[in-house]
Amino acid sequence: MNTAHELHLAKRMARLGTETAFEVLVKARALEAKGRDIVHLEIGEPDFDTPGNIIGAATDALHKGFTHYGPSAGLPQLRETIAQYVSETRAVNVTPEEVVVVPGGKPIIFFTILALAEEGDEVIYPNPGFPIYESMINYVGAKAVPIRLREEMDFRLDVDELAGLINDRTRLLILNSPQNPTGGVLTKADIDGIARAIGDRNILVLTDEIYSRLIFEGEHHSIMSVEGMKERCILLDGFSKTYAMRADLATHVARLMTNSNSCTASFTQVAGVEALRGPQASVDAMCAEFKKRRDVMVAGLNKIKGFSCLLPKGAFYVFPNIKGTGWPSKKLADALLDDAGVAGLSGTAFGDFGEGYLRFSVANSIENIEKALDRVGSWAAKNL
Ligand SMILES: Cc1ncc(COP(=O)(O)O)c(C=O)c1O
Repeated sequence: MNTAHELHLAKRMARLGTETAFEVLVKARALEAKGRDIVHLEIGEPDFDTPGNIIGAATDALHKGFTHYGPSAGLPQLRETIAQYVSETRAVNVTPEEVVVVPGGKPIIFFTILALAEEGDEVIYPNPGFPIYESMINYVGAKAVPIRLREEMDFRLDVDELAGLINDRTRLLILNSPQNPTGGVLTKADIDGIARAIGDRNILVLTDEIYSRLIFEGEHHSIMSVEGMKERCILLDGFSKTYAMRADLATHVARLMTNSNSCTASFTQVAGVEALRGPQASVDAMCAEFKKRRDVMVAGLNKIKGFSCLLPKGAFYVFPNIKGTGWPSKKLADALLDDAGVAGLSGTAFGDFGEGYLRFSVANSIENIEKALDRVGSWAAKNL
């Protein structure tokens, strides 16, 4: 090759991580293309059809010309609807100026970290946790400081341990509840304790509540609702793929939108208004179905040699402990895909503290979950 045209990547690209779920999906599809039957428990995406009223609103909007650019921060009617929704569900007063609509959950993780953290700053994030946090913190050159989620605490964090990690360089704390990959849910006492641990320090909190509507026991608690915390929170709520934050930060995030995506597709925003204002029964039905699947999956895993699995309290993942198999997580996840046709993820795809665990998504039918359990059970009986 002509060395004059060698690819010179920016150094920062070496620090960018990835989300392994997409890589395993590609590998699983390649096996399917060769004729293998694979049960997909790797990707975290609800398998339910979008409710008819929301599809109707989207197609209507397409016919009505919502196919052009809109404001970078989002359509006024959607920002208004979201401000109302957040005000009601988080018991705080949120205005439309504090809302930015972006296309997905990841852009807000990207934009928030890009806008707030620089070299020398420390960002505390959950581990095991959604891998994009660590990837983005490293990418911007800040220091990634993991707070361990502990199985013995139902995969919640230890507030005293968190307090010990906070120092003068801490710029941002990332919370995620209900949590990916463990299904852990922070309690009201945890949230209050975290707010106390932050105290008066000038630290912002990115509170990722994308699974806030998928809670199986008790209720969802947001740190945004704690007295004095609203101005210090950036709320990421994935139900509507929208975000609420203080208005001064919102203008900068909107500028990052202008620079990167221009705006979120207008017709999907019209559908977003319908999703928030229309009937909510489908969300409750989806949650009830995930709970049934969770119960089947956890009961089945607990019967398999070497596996033990807690009952997750929210989201749609289970995170079995596989230390009893004697296998490292990545090797076990690979073997289950290659030999048993079950696609799951290694706990290490979510950080170093994920060693000793696997993640299975229950966004699949009970029939397929039972098929996966049979296959993993037979594999374990033969190989362990
Ligand atoms: C904890 C968490 N935050 C954010 C996201 C956002 O993802 P997306 O950009 O695909 O909406 C996800 C998706 O899996 C997630 O699990």
